[in-house]
Amino acid sequence: MSASSSPFPSGDDQAATVTRLRAAGCVFAEDEARLLISAAQTPAGLADMVSRRAAGQPLEHVLGWAEFCGLRIAVDPGVFIPRRRTEFLVRRAAALARRAAGPDHGRARPVVVDLCCGSGAVGAALAASLSRVELHAADIDPAAVRCARRNVAAAGGQVYQGDLYGPLPARMRGRVDILAANVPYVPSGEVGLLPPEARAHEPRMALDGGTDGLDILRRVAAAAPLWLAPGGHLLAETSERQAPRAAEAVGRDGLIPQVAHSGRLNATVVIATMAARPGE
Ligand SMILES: C[S@@+](CC[C@H](N)C(=O)[O-])C[C@H]1O[C@@H](n2cnc3c(N)ncnc32)[C@H](O)[C@@H]1O
Repeated sequence: MSASSSPFPSGDDQAATVTRLRAAGCVFAEDEARLLISAAQTPAGLADMVSRRAAGQPLEHVLGWAEFCGLRIAVDPGVFIPRRRTEFLVRRAAALARRAAGPDHGRARPVVVDLCCGSGAVGAALAASLSRVELHAADIDPAAVRCARRNVAAAGGQVYQGDLYGPLPARMRGRVDILAANVPYVPSGEVGLLPPEARAHEPRMALDGGTDGLDILRRVAAAAPLWLAPGGHLLAETSERQAPRAAEAVGRDGLIPQVAHSGRLNATVVIATMAARPGE
């Protein structure tokens, strides 16, 4: 197709798109314009995308995907957008999963559960970085589950809908090597302080972790010993401020907690390891 018959904007129109995005407060207006132009199928489609973005919809919801661990993760409107900082949890979980599959432990396929999976970004990224994995993911929100099914399909992952462990098959009890749980952890009183894009476009149940932000983590930790394999690991993201209390919350019933922090990603993860049985 020649430049003159292209359905996409001319240089002037591109500049107008940038101006419109910038006027709406988009700090990276040039980059966003480029992404929207390359995603749009038609000029009318582009106009609609630019309007939605200018009205405050997160860029990822407008595009329909978010970049996470080098992957394009499908994210529908109303579904939590995976955050860059969560890549730290993925890296830690991947290292532990590799060890579970190593010669000392002899698991042919580590069993990974992405609990509170949202779009399934964590599970999809773990599967992409491990050569073999048995992947399960679960979320309470049907919109998130629909997204996660698309994102973990390539890894042959199973996605379930329901409250925490409720929908997981009972046969997985005592078999989980990696329990990655990026649960909601914003204290209820601080949800109102989040950026407007999160408050208005992500579900409250994806953000609100109760009075001190740790209610859901406590529930996850309480049942983790039932699901983890000996030597298995629970990994959960928290804020740096919450970390001591989060470690206390997960350090129970044979779980040994530690805290890991990445200054570069401003990310904090509590890791609780299930004591191995003697001889394992
Ligand atoms: C902070 S988001 C994280 C999503 C995803 N793990 C990620 O990192 O992108 C938390 C997710 O927990 C889910 N959730 C909240 N309460 C839940 C519950 N009781 N059972 C299962 N999922 C829950 C929400 O629907 C949301 O998708």
